[in-house]
Amino acid sequence: MANPSRRPLVAGNWKMNGLRASLAEVVAIKAGIAGAGCDVAICPPATLLREAAAEAAGSGLLIGAQDCHAAASGANTGDISAEMVADAGCRLIIIGHSERRADHGETNEIVRQKAEAVWRAGLLAVLCIGETESQRRGGETMAVLARQILESVPEKATSANLVVAYEPVWAIGTGLTPSEDDIAAAHAHIRARLAERIGTVAAATSILYGGSVKPSNAASILSLADVDGALVGGASLKAADFLGIVAASS
Ligand code: 13P
Repeated sequence: MANPSRRPLVAGNWKMNGLRASLAEVVAIKAGIAGAGCDVAICPPATLLREAAAEAAGSGLLIGAQDCHAAASGANTGDISAEMVADAGCRLIIIGHSERRADHGETNEIVRQKAEAVWRAGLLAVLCIGETESQRRGGETMAVLARQILESVPEKATSANLVVAYEPVWAIGTGLTPSEDDIAAAHAHIRARLAERIGTVAAATSILYGGSVKPSNAASILSLADVDGALVGGASLKAADFLGIVAASS
């Protein structure tokens, strides 16, 4: 179970899913989290940020974006800045998701710059790391995670401005998950590498697990040492599934 100094966070990443009708799920999630034993966030597509944030205002539900550009403004067609996300009423931004790294060539260095941008806008960075299937097969998992921490986490990270999400790439959207021992070992390794990078605040920094989390496996994953919550893709699209995961974290 999570260290009591780390309040669990269950965050939903809707990815490129959701039209305005999906705001009904935000309404249902907001209603269903009263008294939850964890923080709860939903990261809808950019088109829904403003309305979702307005809907969640004054409730315990946090709304966040799935990415941002490192610059505050400029000639960057199609991008949005952290300041724009904050202006829409959001509280957090996911950065470094493996789909951004794979589809948009985002390097650890770019992710580090995005973390700085998120903090410049006063928001929480949910920074994703994780190994690919071939890296795991090659026995490189721990080295890959160490390099991602070293190169993408700025030294001024604190437990108040950073959450790390461990998402094995091969577990995303596949229904596959690492064994509980493998998740626990990866999270302990991430926390140790984080401590080398940012010092004792690593002990109070939340590390989420992501990759095929669903109501049926959430309780066992969330009970593992050093697992402080979940980053949920597919199972966050429907309020009933997502609320089942939220309930499992308590
Ligand atoms: P799934 O829960 O659909 O596997 O996605 C995980 C993820 O990528 C969340 O960011």
